[in-house]
Amino acid sequence: MIFFWAALLSAQTLRQAGAQRALLMGTAADADEFGNPDPLVLEPLYASTLGTQYSLLEPENAMKWNPIHPSQTIYNFQPGDELVAFAQAHQMQIRGHNLCWEAYNPAWVNTLALTATPATMSAVLQDHINTVVTHYKGKLFAWDVVNEAVSDTQAGTGTAMKDSIWYNQPGIGLTGTGYVEQALRWAHAADPNALLFYNDYNIEDSGAKFNAVYAMVKDFVTRGVPINGVGIQMHIATGTYPSTAGLTKNIQQLTALGLQVHITEMDVRIPVDSSGNATTADLQAQAQTYQRILTVCLQNPGCTAFQTWGFTDKHSWIPGSYSGFGAALSFDANYQPKPAFNSMISTLQTVPPVLSATAIVNAASYQGGAVAPGELVTIFQANLGPGTLVGAQLDSNGLVSSNLSGAQIFFDGKAAPLIYAVAGQISAVVPYEVSGKQQTVVQYNYNGVVSNNATLPVAPSAPAIFTQDTSGSGPGLVLNGGTSLNTAANPAAGGSVVAVLATGGGTIKGGATDGALAPEVGDQTLPVSATIGGITATVGYAGPAPGEVNGVMQINLTVPAGMTGAQPLVIFVGGVASQSGVTVAVK
Ligand code: XIL
Repeated sequence: MIFFWAALLSAQTLRQAGAQRALLMGTAADADEFGNPDPLVLEPLYASTLGTQYSLLEPENAMKWNPIHPSQTIYNFQPGDELVAFAQAHQMQIRGHNLCWEAYNPAWVNTLALTATPATMSAVLQDHINTVVTHYKGKLFAWDVVNEAVSDTQAGTGTAMKDSIWYNQPGIGLTGTGYVEQALRWAHAADPNALLFYNDYNIEDSGAKFNAVYAMVKDFVTRGVPINGVGIQMHIATGTYPSTAGLTKNIQQLTALGLQVHITEMDVRIPVDSSGNATTADLQAQAQTYQRILTVCLQNPGCTAFQTWGFTDKHSWIPGSYSGFGAALSFDANYQPKPAFNSMISTLQTVPPVLSATAIVNAASYQGGAVAPGELVTIFQANLGPGTLVGAQLDSNGLVSSNLSGAQIFFDGKAAPLIYAVAGQISAVVPYEVSGKQQTVVQYNYNGVVSNNATLPVAPSAPAIFTQDTSGSGPGLVLNGGTSLNTAANPAAGGSVVAVLATGGGTIKGGATDGALAPEVGDQTLPVSATIGGITATVGYAGPAPGEVNGVMQINLTVPAGMTGAQPLVIFVGGVASQSGVTVAVK
């Protein structure tokens, strides 16, 4: 099988193929953090491979305590800054690694820990986290805040922590998972926009260590401790660890908490001879291991980044750490792609996208549930599609196209008009053919790779008002006199007419051609009523919005007199109310 992959491949990079899955493809990278020869500067193929193949960069060592904080009063940001500048120049995201770890600390802090009080250690850790996170504030999208804090040996109740200068030797004065929580809080205070991760190994499969990490982060989420995700390292060999079922379950348990999962440090070590060469059979087994793990990530949409611990076998920690092993990465020591690379590309291109019914929501309210004919819906987690957003287009019949760069959404086999498509998010107009049905079967297709089926109930109408931001609530998309945007600074007068833009009206008489643009002159066709500030607002027109695709509706309302400020706005179609929390500004 693997022999044929190379021939079948279109020449995509990991970055391009990952963009079509809304998946960041990352790698650890080095600068000259130890005074080593700087591969970024000295090896053109290191820099060009890194800059073209990956969308995410993580300093392998440059931001760890040892290089970045070599003595108590000295920070050395230069190697980290070099990696950040490289990533920025190549439009890559950057993961910081890491702010708190029992290992890899500079001699001065280990020495200090021998005699310091917990209060001193606490002050030292806070200074470090604050200084480093502040230095990179706004440049890094995520940080591994705490690395490898949970003990490998879990017995009894509670979460056993690993001995550490930050935990108990002497620690910063907090018991249990307290120091992890404190580190997260300090990092969040320094950069509230960075995603904060706990990162560890041996949590790839089910087991006591995963359960301990899960219990810790679940407690954090429950209590509102700032944490956004868990990094699963994935330093593995070929073979059965981690089991597909165990990894799947772990990712699903974590993402069910609302956390993201990043695969942070994957490498697949295989035996090598004294020249560093592996057998063909091992290289192919390795390719299959990469394929297996990447497939699990793709089939669980909360897995949002897939990163390897380096990319070339020329620069990898494996030979130095696992005697007799090496060749663990995607490119060989001459920067040539290996079977592992080809299997990753092929996996990104061919694993079916996941479609879940709960990820299909009204495009105005973002509420899920039943869909109505002509309703604009947005589907999240359709994680295969164009790498960059493609907007609505008219086809040769003058209808809004149901195929955007190969992306299509089918309802009971009928292709829906599309508003936009990008990997991870697509917006469609539910075909009028679902009218009168109990349910509809939805399927996503991207250039012939088809999703599972998702089944949704059908309702006659599901009205929702578009809002001015993408929250589905707050100021509605309302035009004063049908022309200027209604805002707090531009309120509508009592007695004046406003036009409200909405969707979910159900079948519209005279306007039920899928993808057709509504004519300039509409007639009142929808059984719509409305309230502003809880008082009935007279409906002057309710029907297709002229010039917009069928499915967008416009409702002209007269603002009741005697009210001011942001007033709640609700429309009713066939007795069904639009979402709550939408307002119109009245003067
Ligand atoms: C390793 C680096 O790859 C080596 O260069 C360094 O000598 C030691 O650290 N888990 C982690 C990484 O979180 O930071 C480690 O990186 C590998 C294990």
